[in-house]
Amino acid sequence: MLSSILPLLGLLSVAVAHRTWVDAISLAKSAVSKLSTEEQAALVSGTGFNPAFDCVGTIAFPSSKVSGLEGLCLQDGPAGVRFAQGNSAFPAGINTAATFNVTLMREVGLAIGEEFRGKGANVWLGPVLNLARTPQGGRNWEGAGGDPFLASVSVSEQIKGAQSVGVIATAKHYIGNEQEHGRNTGTSIIDDRTLREVYLLPFKAAVDAGVGAVMCSYNKLNGTYACENSRLMDILKSELGFKGFVMSDWWATSSGLEAAKAGLDMMMPGGTPPADDQPDVWGPTLVKMVESGEVAKSRLKDMAVRVLSAWYKLGQDDNFPKVTLHDPDVDVQGNHRDIIRQIGVESTVLLKNVRGALPFRESLKSLAIIGEDSSYGKGPNEFADRAGVSGTVAIGWGSGTAEFPYIVPPVEGITKKAHEFGISPSKILVANKNDTSLDEAIDVAESADAAIVFVFSNSGEGYTDVERNFGDRNDLKLWHNGDQLVATVASANRNTIVVIHGPGAVDMPWVNHPNITAIVMAMMPGQETGNAIADVLFGVEPSGRLPFTINADRAKYCCDVDYSEYNTIEYKEGLFIDYMWNDHRGITPLFWFGYGLSYTTFGYTELRVSLVRSDYILATVTITNTGFVSGVEVVQLYLGFPKGYSEPVKKLRAFEKIRLDPAESRAVTLNVTDLNIWDVASQKWAIPGGTYTIYVGASAGDIRASETLEVDGYVLQAFKEPFEDERFVNQQS
Ligand code: BGC
Repeated sequence: MLSSILPLLGLLSVAVAHRTWVDAISLAKSAVSKLSTEEQAALVSGTGFNPAFDCVGTIAFPSSKVSGLEGLCLQDGPAGVRFAQGNSAFPAGINTAATFNVTLMREVGLAIGEEFRGKGANVWLGPVLNLARTPQGGRNWEGAGGDPFLASVSVSEQIKGAQSVGVIATAKHYIGNEQEHGRNTGTSIIDDRTLREVYLLPFKAAVDAGVGAVMCSYNKLNGTYACENSRLMDILKSELGFKGFVMSDWWATSSGLEAAKAGLDMMMPGGTPPADDQPDVWGPTLVKMVESGEVAKSRLKDMAVRVLSAWYKLGQDDNFPKVTLHDPDVDVQGNHRDIIRQIGVESTVLLKNVRGALPFRESLKSLAIIGEDSSYGKGPNEFADRAGVSGTVAIGWGSGTAEFPYIVPPVEGITKKAHEFGISPSKILVANKNDTSLDEAIDVAESADAAIVFVFSNSGEGYTDVERNFGDRNDLKLWHNGDQLVATVASANRNTIVVIHGPGAVDMPWVNHPNITAIVMAMMPGQETGNAIADVLFGVEPSGRLPFTINADRAKYCCDVDYSEYNTIEYKEGLFIDYMWNDHRGITPLFWFGYGLSYTTFGYTELRVSLVRSDYILATVTITNTGFVSGVEVVQLYLGFPKGYSEPVKKLRAFEKIRLDPAESRAVTLNVTDLNIWDVASQKWAIPGGTYTIYVGASAGDIRASETLEVDGYVLQAFKEPFEDERFVNQQS
């Protein structure tokens, strides 16, 4: 989409022979037919978890019976090659989504794929497809935000990018894993319609993008473990037509037998069982189950065929590199720092900008840089899996992280840029040792033309805590005295710029403070964080848009984390998450999904809509830069379904990011190809008949034009108002 305004980054290219699924499956079937039961079991069973020496998941296959196959290396995670050296630390998935730039989404997938391939990792354990249902959700930063359509686009582009260089991508975690508390024991209660229309959508997009692997999640869905849930496997394999293999999340099976029967294709990590009550780690146990007839031979064969199909499809039988995760001499970073910095800039969301605060002007002669979050601290790799705060927060914690090859902290990036800008070194004042040292903050803030205050929150994976946050955030407050720091700086400097790092929404009790002239949401930009924020402050337009809504306080969101230990997580809000909840309940947020300021203004005129086919709406709208500088707009199309089907007021269905010079106009074309809703009674997707509204605007709360269109769809008898009556129908697993 944005290729028209962005030159493609010159990334390394690897020639990979891809095959169609049909060809790959046929090769896989022929290879598997020559394997013994033991060999087939070895192909689908991990050999244990020993990341100091190995990949986080390893398939050993010491047989010459499959030409080119010496085993498989499965490695985390979404933000880069975990536990490795010579790799990059990419931005979080949430930043990639916030770019709303389809070209960048593809390119970052490609860059990640190149690093996995370069390090000999066959399988990238990413991206994350779970939605940011609750703002506290620990792993939200790994995913692509709160809207199923945006997430679908972001993850499918990344999958296509990574797989284009012959790495098998993994769509994880299937499904209903939207929080960390009780993730191993909890059950997510999701009604059939909500499952299909909200949480399944990104998985559908991943399958359509040709994803090679899916990882089932730890939690139960409606009472049955996801990895042992035949209904879920059936939806994936029969309904969506997934041809690759389903691996378990690490130790996510409670019964190896049930998992095998239900349709799991690969058990991870295997090896020594973690506990006495978990003996079924496959390998020899799977062989016994097959020999005793508990698991059909055809099922084992199907598992092996699926694993090899993905492997053949991505051309991994042809010269796939050896595993070199821990070898620093195998440096796979290439020029990826460029795309990391560009995502940093294009994902940064300008929430507030008054009195021309940003970008900085030549009249600015002195600057204060305040806050621990601007600093290097003890460095980004101080804590294993980044499970601790030391210096600026550029990624969350858990398996989704990578070792940083370096980090440019904000203080460094800004100082360098400020010098280039002509600000004398003695006029750059820094107070970033401790967010409770408020006197120091006041001192520097009082003496500068502008004060930039860096604040943060953090979250991660629930196997460990950081400052008593067990994966999910305990609340939406800034960490380390952040609110007080902001208020203090704002009281000392009437040009205070707040930069927020972290996984998502935070409370902003200071949002309307008159001395706060700009608020910048930077999220988690990876290793180039300081350069990206410096680019933005000194003139490059931050063109990110919020991939989640920010409400005034915690009680306003559709959902909160269930913090109990053996939780039953009821997705009671149904279809109404994120901005759809705000629309549904009439709640005006602080900042809507899709929001982000530009340095210029845009006009929307001449919206025209037409029905190209019964399932395809075409919209064109003319966008004009009505301001004085060149700028970027993300044109968003939301679809309003006919009344009577209990759909959200509007759902994102298309977007396009464009750059326009002052007075320049462009007709933007937006395609809507998903008019479906899930009919629970007939268990089918259907296009409801009636009047559709096509909304076009600059965020979910800033609609600039709308048109209606009649569609002769199928009139679904099954729906009654209110939707709540239909809930929890057909949810047996
Ligand atoms: C996580 C997965 C990860 C796996 C392997 C699990 O704890 O949920 O996302 O891929 O560990 O490290």
